[in-house]
Amino acid sequence: MATVCIKNIGEIIGIVPQGVLRKEGEEMNETGILHDAYLLIENGRIASFGPMTETPQADEYIDAQRGIVLPSFCDSHTHIVYSKARHNEFLDKINGLTYEQIAANGGGILNSADYLHNTSEDDLYRQSMTRVNEMIQKGTGAIEIKSGYGLNTEDEMKMLRVIRRIKETSPAIIKSTFLGAHAVGRGYTHEQYVSLVCNEMISRVAAEQLADYIDVFCDEGFFTIEDTDRILTEGEKYGLKAKIHANELAVSGGVQVGVKHGALSVDHLEKTTDAEIEALRGTKTMPTMLPGSSFFLGLPYGRAKDYIKAGLGIALASDYNPGSSPCGDMRFVMALACIQMKLTPIQALNALTLNGAYAMDLSEEVGSITMGKRANLIITHPMQSLAIVPYQYQTPWIKHHLLSGRIISS
Ligand code: NIG
Ligand code: FE
Repeated sequence: MATVCIKNIGEIIGIVPQGVLRKEGEEMNETGILHDAYLLIENGRIASFGPMTETPQADEYIDAQRGIVLPSFCDSHTHIVYSKARHNEFLDKINGLTYEQIAANGGGILNSADYLHNTSEDDLYRQSMTRVNEMIQKGTGAIEIKSGYGLNTEDEMKMLRVIRRIKETSPAIIKSTFLGAHAVGRGYTHEQYVSLVCNEMISRVAAEQLADYIDVFCDEGFFTIEDTDRILTEGEKYGLKAKIHANELAVSGGVQVGVKHGALSVDHLEKTTDAEIEALRGTKTMPTMLPGSSFFLGLPYGRAKDYIKAGLGIALASDYNPGSSPCGDMRFVMALACIQMKLTPIQALNALTLNGAYAMDLSEEVGSITMGKRANLIITHPMQSLAIVPYQYQTPWIKHHLLSGRIISS
């Protein structure tokens, strides 16, 4: 059995007992810290950790030089399979158009669908892997990727096949979400398109086992709660759990329909009232906030502190996509969470790791420093405090990133 020992660790942060799959309310403040430590990896998994004085023998050593060891980030919401940037729309936005206006003019998601249609599967894979590798370099070890730039059956399948290829070839853990209902595809009426998703796309996707989850953009100008209900009901017949876009552009009722379907997560939540917080209490659904899109679109930030005060957990994700968040850097997400949403660094870390893993149904495998979990770990340069991470938000503080116990980037 190959063993690797990380020795000379200043602090391990993010230790969680076995069996704890998410953090809620007060638990969001738990640091799970051990000072002056070692961590032993056996066959790619965390085998033990403890005081430096008890550092065991191993086949290989990595000297942490008193840096901090953290779990890798778990990014539970991205759209990184796309072709080409949408920088022209960026200029429209600078000149005063809103996200909704760009979409209503036939741009936005539909532009990405046109680009994707004219891109080969190989090229799409190559472009997307560049983004995956960039995210890994910045400390992300598990990524959910959505379809939704196909908007007809063949192109949705093409996107999902690219995600499958990323799953097979990337050292990060990848989860795949079918988001046919991202926008109404060109050439269809709204009703025709919802029927296409329900009567054709879902069964085709399920037959080839191309998706782990199903998503709907349930928001003003996109899909209604009735559409969402219908699509999620159809998805359930094929065992696809829901993870939905809700309450980004309006108080859409998306949270409630997500909860009704036992969604794994409801994501965005820029526009929520106390009723949404109430609807989420006591459920298994993880509220997920995407401060990168609030930043980029100039939307309000999610009410993260109110959710935590109400006893809920939250996850944070990047929403990496070409229209509302062209950035997959979870360190930046952490900075926004602390600076704009007023989370403490440890609350933000819990939201970016264990709770992000939960929002992908992966928290038995990754998201914390726990015996038996995959050794997806960040080793930092020597650092006085975790607060340095969101505070010096541009400093390259990652010294090594390990996936399954192997150094992937330094
Ligand atoms: O999560 N809100 C819907 N979907 C993406 C944006 C997609 C795009 O504009 O390309 C989001 O923000
Ligand atoms: Fe999104």
